[in-house]
Amino acid sequence: MKHDKRALVTGGAGLIGSHLTDLLLREGWTVRVLDNLEPQTHRLGKPAWVNAQAEFVHGDLTDRDTIRAAMGGIDVVFHEAAYGGYMPEIAKYVRVNSFGTAQLLEVIREDNLPIRKIVVASSQAVYSEGAAHCPKHGLVFPAVRPVEQLRTGDWTVHCPLCGADTTPVPTPEEAPVGGETVYGLTKVDQEKLVLLWGKQVGIPTVALRYSCTFGPRQSIFNPYTGVIAIFCTRLLNGLPPVLYEDGEQTRDFSFVEDIARANLLAAEHDALDGLPVNVGSGQGAPIREVAEQISEALGIRIAPEINGEFRPGEMRHLTSGTRRIRDAVGYAPQTDLLTGVGKYLEWIRTQADVKDYFSEAAQLLKTKGIVHKATR
Ligand SMILES: NC(=O)c1ccc[n+]([C@@H]2O[C@H](COP(=O)([O-])OP(=O)(O)OC[C@H]3O[C@@H](n4cnc5c(N)ncnc54)[C@H](O)[C@@H]3O)[C@@H](O)[C@H]2O)c1
Ligand SMILES: [Zn+2]
Repeated sequence: MKHDKRALVTGGAGLIGSHLTDLLLREGWTVRVLDNLEPQTHRLGKPAWVNAQAEFVHGDLTDRDTIRAAMGGIDVVFHEAAYGGYMPEIAKYVRVNSFGTAQLLEVIREDNLPIRKIVVASSQAVYSEGAAHCPKHGLVFPAVRPVEQLRTGDWTVHCPLCGADTTPVPTPEEAPVGGETVYGLTKVDQEKLVLLWGKQVGIPTVALRYSCTFGPRQSIFNPYTGVIAIFCTRLLNGLPPVLYEDGEQTRDFSFVEDIARANLLAAEHDALDGLPVNVGSGQGAPIREVAEQISEALGIRIAPEINGEFRPGEMRHLTSGTRRIRDAVGYAPQTDLLTGVGKYLEWIRTQADVKDYFSEAAQLLKTKGIVHKATR
C-alpha cells in the first residue's frame, strides 16, 4: 500500500499506542496522538514517555469536534484508545469503545477524509472460549462456561457435543465470536463496525485481535487490567498475587513491541485487509506459572492466593492461532514471555511509588458482581 505515512494513533499515551508511536516515528512516519489521559490509567497525568516528536492532542474520543480536529491531514488511523479490563461500568464501555468508534467512522465519511487504512485494536476477548480438542469430536468451539458450573468449582471446558473434558488448542480466527463480558462485547462492536464499514465505503481496514499484552509503560495504577502488572505491584507491596479459579487457566502473552510491529505490518501490507487477525505468541502459559516466574524474578517469594474466586464470562484457555498473520505478512514474535517479564521488571523498578490498588478494587468487584466465589 502506498501512503504518505501520516498516522493518527488514538490512545497513543497508553501501553500499545505509545510503543506504536515510537516505532512509527523511527520508521519515518509523522504521528499525531489523540488521548484523554484516562485517570484510571494515568493517575499522575501525561506520562513522560509520550514521544515529543509526535503531535499530542489531549482530547476525548467520544467528542465529535475533537475527532474532527485530530483527523486533519491523516492517512492511516491506528485506533488503540479504549476503556479496558474488568470494570463494573457498562455505559462507559459502550460510550468509549462502541460509540467512540462509530463516531470516528462517521466523521471520516461525513468529511470525506482521504483515509487510506484503519487498523483497529481488537482483542482475544472477542472469543467466548478458546478452541478445544474433544477425544471423540476433534476440534470444537465450546461456549462460555455456565456460571452455575463455575459456582460448583468445576473449571473444566466441556465438549459442546458430548460433554467430555477437552484439551485446549490454538484458536483460529474462524472460531465463533461472542462477547461474554461488557468489555468483550464492545471489542466485538469495534472490530465489526470497522471491518463492515470499511467494506461498504471501500477503505481498507484490519482488526488485530491482540493476546494479553504487557511490557514497560503498562499502567501500574490500574488494578483492573494487565495481569503481569497487577502481580508485580502486589508482590512489590509484600502481598500475594490473587489467582482466580485454580490458577491453571492459560493465556497467550505478547510483548508490547511485538504488538506494535504487527500494527506496522498491517498498515504496510494489504494481505490482511478486511480481516480479523490474531496477534499472539501461539503459546499458552498457565497463570500460576506466570505468577511464580514473576515472584522468582523479583526475588520476592510469596505464594499466590487461590480462594475459589472466578469471573463469569472469563475464558478458561486462550492461545492465539497465528497462522494467518504469519503466512500473510511473516509476523513472528521476537520477545518471549520470560525475556519480556525481565524487561517489565527492569522498568517497574525505575517507577517511584508502586502502590497496591488491587485490594480496594477487589472489594468493589465482589460487591458489583464481577468477581464471584465458588460455593463448593
Ligand atoms: N493490553 C492488552 O492486554 C490488550 C489486549 C487486547 C486488546 N487490547 C486493546 O489494545 C488497545 C490499547 O490497549 P493498551 O493495553 O495500550 O491500554 P492502555 O490503557 O494502556 O491505553 C489506552 C489509552 O487510551 C486512552 N483512552 C481511553 N479512553 C479514551 C477516550 N475516551 N478518548 C481518548 N483516549 C482514551 C487512555 O488514556 C490510554 O492512554 C485497546 O483498544 C485495548 O482494548 C489490549
Ligand atoms: Zn465431544
